Amino acid sequence: MRPFTAVFALWCLYLRPVHSEQYQLLQTYNASNFFEEFRFFSSADPTGGFVEYVPFETALTTGIVTNETGLVYLGVDSTNVYTPNDQGRPSVRLESKMTFTEGLFVIDLTHMPVGCGTWPAFWTAGLGDWGKDGEIDIIENVNDARSNNAALHTAGDCAVLNSSSQTGLWKSTDCNTGHDGNQGCGTTFTEPYNYGAEFNANGGGLYAMEWRNDTIDIWFFSRDNVPDTLRDSTAIPNTKSFGTPSASFAGPCSSSFGEKFFNHTIILDTTFCGGWAGRTFGGGTSECPVSKGSTPLASCVDYVARNPKAFTDAWWGIKSLRVWEKKLHHLFQ
Ligand SMILES: *[C@@H]1O[C@H](CO)[C@@H](O)[C@H](O)[C@H]1NC(C)=O
Ligand SMILES: *[C@@H]1O[C@H](CO)[C@@H](O)[C@H](O)[C@H]1NC(C)=O
Ligand SMILES: *[C@@H]1O[C@H](CO)[C@@H](O)[C@H](O)[C@H]1NC(C)=O
Ligand SMILES: *[C@@H]1O[C@H](CO)[C@@H](O)[C@H](O)[C@H]1NC(C)=O
Ligand SMILES: *[C@@H]1O[C@H](CO)[C@@H](O)[C@H](O)[C@H]1NC(C)=O
Repeated sequence: MRPFTAVFALWCLYLRPVHSEQYQLLQTYNASNFFEEFRFFSSADPTGGFVEYVPFETALTTGIVTNETGLVYLGVDSTNVYTPNDQGRPSVRLESKMTFTEGLFVIDLTHMPVGCGTWPAFWTAGLGDWGKDGEIDIIENVNDARSNNAALHTAGDCAVLNSSSQTGLWKSTDCNTGHDGNQGCGTTFTEPYNYGAEFNANGGGLYAMEWRNDTIDIWFFSRDNVPDTLRDSTAIPNTKSFGTPSASFAGPCSSSFGEKFFNHTIILDTTFCGGWAGRTFGGGTSECPVSKGSTPLASCVDYVARNPKAFTDAWWGIKSLRVWEKKLHHLFQ
């Protein structure tokens, strides 16, 4: 036995399994593997949008998606005219093959879908009995909105506290899918350039979601504001240095987050109109064109059907999506 080997063997005897508090990179999605690691969902839109979700081959051959430039581009049909009686404007909805419980999820975007009639979303949810395994909406809003809305949805009673430290503004602290038309507990973001046309004009940015068994935090970082440990692609992120989250979900319900949120798929889509974008089309601060004598929803469907050129900016540009998890490490066992 060489001296080094003997020392090594002795050292091993002293080792106990250690519990690592550090994140380990579990998965990197980017242009090189995105279309292999995500399924293209092509059934009717569960959110009731005016959309036709097309399969991968169709999306690729019609230019709705591409990875050729080293960026994951997920767009919509912006060439064809439809009628309100058609199924809807072609688009895509992608679902990760891998499922996750807890972890740190960071998406680096150069561009997000914008425009009247659009309803883009980036979220995680179980694919089983909807609501039972929870939903975490990371990026979502509709039409010509300028601020992100992050929200949680769970089946059964679940309330969070409005006193958590966050930069966003609470819309609701009730996460129960059965209350308030399934509004969920949610927060409107306040950082500059966090959503829509301004996000795109500023070169996009990063969204990070840290899912723990007792807290769910979401941060938005504009391009010039990205923490060092996220800027360096080889670093292990330290969420303690991320600053105050844009949204922070904690409170009475969070002791049962482990039972309310589990086995999530990562989902990205762009739908049109439906219950949210359609209902609020032209309402509030939205300047989307409601046709004379028509409802917001019917105006939305009509607008989306007839105006392909209005959707040239309805695309996700994804540089990367990375997932880290804290794992138990059993060394030398
Ligand atoms: C695009 O994706 C395919 C797999 O679907 C992969 O083989 C190819 O290398 C990717 N291209 C780029 C430029 O990453
Ligand atoms: C994608 O990520 C892998 C690491 O998992 C890296 O080697 C590769 O260069 C990345 N590709 C692009 C197009 O960013
Ligand atoms: C927070 O919640 C408390 C009680 O539920 C309520 O009285 C208070 O107005 C809320 N504050 C904000 C800023 O929403
Ligand atoms: C959360 O996880 C920590 C350790 O990872 C554990 O000590 C704690 O009991 C868990 N809390 C809940 C509510 O499950
Ligand atoms: C989560 O998924 C794993 C693997 O599919 C399964 O073994 C586990 O029971 C699921 N967890 C729950 C709480 O359903």
